[in-house]
Amino acid sequence: MAHSIVSTINGRPAPGTAEWVEDSSNPSRLTDVVAKVTLADAGTFAAACRAAKQAQPLWADIPAPVRGRTIAAIGRIVEANKETLARLVTRELGKPYPEALGEVQEIIDTCDFFLGEGRRLYGQTVPSEMPDKQLFTFRVPVGTAAVVTAGNFPVAVPSWYVIPALVTGNTVVWKPAEYAAASAMALFDLIQAAGLPAGVLNIVFADGPATFDGLEEALQAGTLDKIGFTGSTAVGARIGELAGRHLQSPCLELGGKNPMVVTPDADLELAVEGALFSGFGTAGQRCTSLGTVIVHESVHDEFLAQLAAAVSAAAIGDPAQDVLYGPMLDQKFASRFEEYLGWIQPHHKILGSSAVGRITRDNPRAGFAGDPDAGLFYHPTIADGVQRDDALFQQETFGPIVGVTTYTSFDEAIALANAPGYGLSASIYTDNPREVFGFRRGISAGMVSVNNSTSGAEAHLPFGGNGKSGNGSRQSGLWVLDQFTRWQSMNWDYSGRLQKAQMDVAEITADLDFRLEA
Ligand code: UN1
Repeated sequence: MAHSIVSTINGRPAPGTAEWVEDSSNPSRLTDVVAKVTLADAGTFAAACRAAKQAQPLWADIPAPVRGRTIAAIGRIVEANKETLARLVTRELGKPYPEALGEVQEIIDTCDFFLGEGRRLYGQTVPSEMPDKQLFTFRVPVGTAAVVTAGNFPVAVPSWYVIPALVTGNTVVWKPAEYAAASAMALFDLIQAAGLPAGVLNIVFADGPATFDGLEEALQAGTLDKIGFTGSTAVGARIGELAGRHLQSPCLELGGKNPMVVTPDADLELAVEGALFSGFGTAGQRCTSLGTVIVHESVHDEFLAQLAAAVSAAAIGDPAQDVLYGPMLDQKFASRFEEYLGWIQPHHKILGSSAVGRITRDNPRAGFAGDPDAGLFYHPTIADGVQRDDALFQQETFGPIVGVTTYTSFDEAIALANAPGYGLSASIYTDNPREVFGFRRGISAGMVSVNNSTSGAEAHLPFGGNGKSGNGSRQSGLWVLDQFTRWQSMNWDYSGRLQKAQMDVAEITADLDFRLEA
């Protein structure tokens, strides 16, 4: 049965001036409508920011350890609903069930990490230059955050923003992807069950243009202090521009063209396993998905043969069954992936499946699990021989396609890995410490894996990228605290007189000409 979903502002359903209703469908069975979502307009988005801004001082007044207990409760509530939420993610987004369980686990891990932050949110006591004076630092919540998220990680990635924002005393307006509305609403309900006061967390369903206008309206009204955005590089650049005009720096988590370097002494079997998981898992729709394998020329043929065999043998289909990957997330992603397939050129050697493009009964895939015509399923594609100027090499291709190219010298491998200008995740397979640390130093990526694939970041390390992958902001772990708090310094002079910094400072005379006798 389809859920009927509307925005919730200040604890109340907010139909707003509804512009239209959109279906969120099961991408592996398109006739299964998971939710009917009423989309809000820009004014409704701005109203949500107003409500959140109003609720913020009271939320910030609640002692941080008490807010931390609420985060603990959210973790336990999500844990108790793990299977139900994962099943919904599988149904609405087509993620294989074990991956959906992993996604929900990432929320629990995030809560487990941040529940302690309520008792830790440390500031510092700092000595002053002068006597009878003490210096301090405090973390201050930024205020109200708008969190705009994609649907490829419909519940885990939102929790990376929402949980640390809440524990540090911010209020939030969350705008999930429309095609992930049911999963988002389920997480919203689970978080609400922890007893958040009205207005602390609000959820607004809106399309891109209404969201953008709503953000602008709220920024102008002064009811929005931070934007967190996960999505494409192009939209991220527009959000960065908008936020910059209001002297804000958004937290941007954008695309990637994540390289994997396979060196001559690499364990090829391990590298193939890694390429299969990160290139084709989630049908290549993670921001950490493998883009291009850069393999040393001496092991290229062997690596390619093994990868092609593994990809050809991989199970694809119904995400409720035991498959490597299921459908594309939504029609929008399927259509865009077909455009990327148009970038294949005659000099590319295509491997990995019996055909390219959509899997149907007329364009079949051996061993397909389920009915291919029911959903948005695509053949896995390996494009060998990609070259530096190819679109396939330069651009993110969100979907089940992996490019392969070769290198001769190690410096060339690093140059190729950095060439597309993204910088999210990068991996190298080697046992040579010189190559490990040479790669780490030379690569532009925010996240580096050694003998591991480009995907599978853990919830307590900094997550984020550089270049076209982001503006250097980091999520997760301690590092995200700098996104949702600002440092405030305080000095307290209890000497009873005006002591001027830099001027009224005692000096101990040193004999700087002192030398040891030779
Ligand atoms: C994303 O694709 O936006 O590292 C996040 C990973 C996941 C998170 C990906 N834990 O692949």
